Amino acid sequence: AETGCLSIIVLGASGDLAKKKTFPALFHLYCQGFLPPNEVHIFGYARTKISDDELRNRIRGYLLGERSSSPSEDVSEFLKLVKYVSGSYDSAEGFQLLDKEIAMHEISKSSQEVSCRRLFYLALPPSVYPSVCRMIRKYCMNKSDLGGWTRVVVEKPFGKDLDSAELLSSQIGELFDEPQIYRIDHYLGKELVQNLLVLRFANRFFLPLWNRDNIDNVQIVFREDFGTEGRGGYFDEYGIIRDIIQNHLLQVFCLVAMEKPVSLKPEHIRDEKVKVLQSVLPIKDEEVVLGQYEGYRDDPTVPDQSNTPTFATVILRIHNERWEGVPFILKAGKALNSRKAEIRVQFKDVPGDIFKCEKQGRNEFVIRLQPSEAMYMKLTVKQPGLEMSTVQSELDLSYKQRYQGVMIPEAYERLILDTYGPCPS
Ligand code: BG6
Repeated sequence: AETGCLSIIVLGASGDLAKKKTFPALFHLYCQGFLPPNEVHIFGYARTKISDDELRNRIRGYLLGERSSSPSEDVSEFLKLVKYVSGSYDSAEGFQLLDKEIAMHEISKSSQEVSCRRLFYLALPPSVYPSVCRMIRKYCMNKSDLGGWTRVVVEKPFGKDLDSAELLSSQIGELFDEPQIYRIDHYLGKELVQNLLVLRFANRFFLPLWNRDNIDNVQIVFREDFGTEGRGGYFDEYGIIRDIIQNHLLQVFCLVAMEKPVSLKPEHIRDEKVKVLQSVLPIKDEEVVLGQYEGYRDDPTVPDQSNTPTFATVILRIHNERWEGVPFILKAGKALNSRKAEIRVQFKDVPGDIFKCEKQGRNEFVIRLQPSEAMYMKLTVKQPGLEMSTVQSELDLSYKQRYQGVMIPEAYERLILDTYGPCPS
């Protein structure tokens, strides 16, 4: 692994994403020893003029999350590593100051000269990506002669449509080389999403069944039991399709539908994802349902006349040998009656059925991404007893039971670790 000092700069430090996801993920990496205090410093950057302690107080309450196993001394020790710099997203001044602060830390961490790594995490809306990247390029690059690097991490929504996404890509691409740019999608860091490649390509069970001969339809579903909750300003500009379907659900879709990659190299996986996406037919109007939950416009951050969808169902059809005729039903909604994300692979009926099990007999393979990670297979078995009747049952792999005492990392922990940590072989 690389050594030397590591500076992690969270831009947009007072925003929702930074508070709820980025800082807690950094904290958990710290607790697991992935951010050694003698090498690491963390900087928050945003426009608000607050002190280091004010930033620390703002994030403190979010650090532990549902995982209260970390003692509170860890919280204080971690917060000591966090500093705050305020400045605008397009002025030289702020970024010069930021550079100075980072450099000071780099000098103080190293009695002799070492390599310096600078990771810029943009917890910001895409409208400011270009100016922020320009400022980083101009004022904040790693200058150590002994190596190291400068990297930027960006998230969705990456533009609003093809044109704006391509424009954004070329604007960032002019400033940084591709290996310096990390476009992340946190669904790819979820344990059961990571498991999809293993499941599909390391098991004989699924190999012969994973096609149009056996599968009737595939459903990829995301539900949330809360609405926009203060994020209406952001959400209303984008809507559920750009917020969830175009990124998170499409990534899951790719992993479910793509062919086996040549290897686990990122380029090989990407190639297969691109191929399956290119085989998707244009979506038909009659295969889309949009909706908006009642009360959405009551959110003060949402315009009164908004018709932005908060719910969408879209059917994707793949024109290739494996999937022709199998609908992939992608569904996402906010403010529904439960919180759940799952993949349901529904199999065709058994031909020539002799048990008269009708509807009851359909096989289904379900992968529940959250909450309570699990995968289970619904199958028909004989009802125990003297009678020869059938019943639906389950082969159940619920993670809580099967992997007791194993902590499943948060999606962002894994992704952030990937941006600076040792590369997987
Ligand atoms: C984000 C969306 O990308 O994902 C949010 O912008 C959504 O609207 C969130 O709430 C859901 O993530 P998770 O990990 O809680 O399912």
